Amino acid sequence: MDVILLFLYNTPMLPKLIKNILNETPEFQDTEISGWVRTKRDMKNLVFIEVNDGSCFSGIQCTFDRAAGLDAHTESALSSVTTGASVKIKGRLTPSPASGQKVEIAASSLSIIGEAPTENVNGKTRELDIQAYPLQKKRHSLEFLREIAHLRSRTNTFGAVARLRSMMSFAIHRYFQERDFHYLHTPIITAGDCEGAGAMFKVTTLEPSPDIDYAKDFFGKKTYLTVSGQLEAETYATSLSRVYTFGPTFRAENSNTARHLAEFWMVEPEVAFAELEDDMALAEDFLKNIFNAVLKECADELAFFDAHVEKGIIENLGQVASAKFTHITYTDAVKELEKASAGNDIFDFKPHWGCDLQSEHEKFLTEKVAGGPVIVTDYPKEIKAFYMKLNDDEKTVRAMDVLVPRLGEIIGGSQREDNLEKLVRRIKDLNMKPEDYYWYLDLRRYGSVPHSGFGLGFERLIQYVSGMANIRDVIPYPRAVGQAEF
Ligand code: 4AD
Ligand code: MG
Repeated sequence: MDVILLFLYNTPMLPKLIKNILNETPEFQDTEISGWVRTKRDMKNLVFIEVNDGSCFSGIQCTFDRAAGLDAHTESALSSVTTGASVKIKGRLTPSPASGQKVEIAASSLSIIGEAPTENVNGKTRELDIQAYPLQKKRHSLEFLREIAHLRSRTNTFGAVARLRSMMSFAIHRYFQERDFHYLHTPIITAGDCEGAGAMFKVTTLEPSPDIDYAKDFFGKKTYLTVSGQLEAETYATSLSRVYTFGPTFRAENSNTARHLAEFWMVEPEVAFAELEDDMALAEDFLKNIFNAVLKECADELAFFDAHVEKGIIENLGQVASAKFTHITYTDAVKELEKASAGNDIFDFKPHWGCDLQSEHEKFLTEKVAGGPVIVTDYPKEIKAFYMKLNDDEKTVRAMDVLVPRLGEIIGGSQREDNLEKLVRRIKDLNMKPEDYYWYLDLRRYGSVPHSGFGLGFERLIQYVSGMANIRDVIPYPRAVGQAEF
């Protein structure tokens, strides 16, 4: 099977990747690699250089034997090459005597493509100055690496996050594509506030002034960066039956936390003829599928996260992927929280029916009550968005949030209100204008169907899978309060 795949997907027009070379059988064949130097150890006759090209977690060890005779160009490159330099190395692929690696390169030639100085170099002008390469071989704090986000993908941690992110994106598309969901591109610029939370970035070409006339603005009305593609996704779900979006979303919430970004990626499936229970089952099946894909396809990255970031994460993901998620209604969840906090102050925020669940409550429910993921359903309508289907009690809505240990909410979803009258009433109750939502209401006027969907915060999923504590470390260039560098 592997042989066939190699044959099919070979890219002879491009330089070989270390990932592929590491999988070859070492038969002293000529080989050549390109990458960035991670470490160099010079032991008189033998020089070991470890090179990484980011194609996989491992680098490849290249051994230079001075006793075997090296050309002058290689000798000189060997003495000057440093961590971070880009190099091309030629040699023969041999079995490796070292533990933890199957093969290595018995190297005969080294060329430095680009140096990475270990000390500051003054150029002719300030722009040509070079500071010493900041990623020397030692452990750097995540805070420091955030300051050099343009270089941090050269570290083990951020290389692993980047590959995990890419693989998980693909796994998400694969999950939906294999199940007849159509990938839908919803607009980034919108005139409506889907979540009704009011935390939106304005889009305008007008200069700021106290009395802006938005009729004169580019779009002739107030517009924003979208907080969710859901409303538009509903229009396509009620024509194509199953759709999903996967794109950037924006929230101007002033929350400086380890799980909020101003720009994040959201996955939003939307399904016609589906009720809340179907939606919950889909969310659970989807998450488990992604966990299994990661366990299988990102084993090296996960082994690293398990060893250095969050102990036990592999075992935990495996367990979660095979156990049933706990289901609990909001009302029962609040009862649990009230019981746990009666006569003590384990929570900063005392829970009561009607309150929004705080992240400390979500953590308690997952870690102490359920010992794993929990799906909380049927929240009070006051704390949820206008579009959620009203229950017969007229107090709660057909909402569901998937909460996980360590993080709290990673998915928010619901069955949508499909009754025209009820939806109009809800819109009016919230002092919103039904005419602004005429197209959304049309879905309830023509061929209305029960339909449901959810939104998964992609970065929170990566946090959960990798154990990375801060959301700013699972997206290449985080945008958050006071942060839009790079
Ligand atoms: O719960 P939310 O606000 O739901 C929606 O936007 C719905 N329209 C989704 C739908 O039903 N189609 O957001 C969904 C998820 C959250 O559960 C969370 O994981 C993530 O998006 N999220 C954020 N992630 C990072 N930074 C933020 N500021 C986030 N806000 C929400
Ligand atoms: Mg939510």
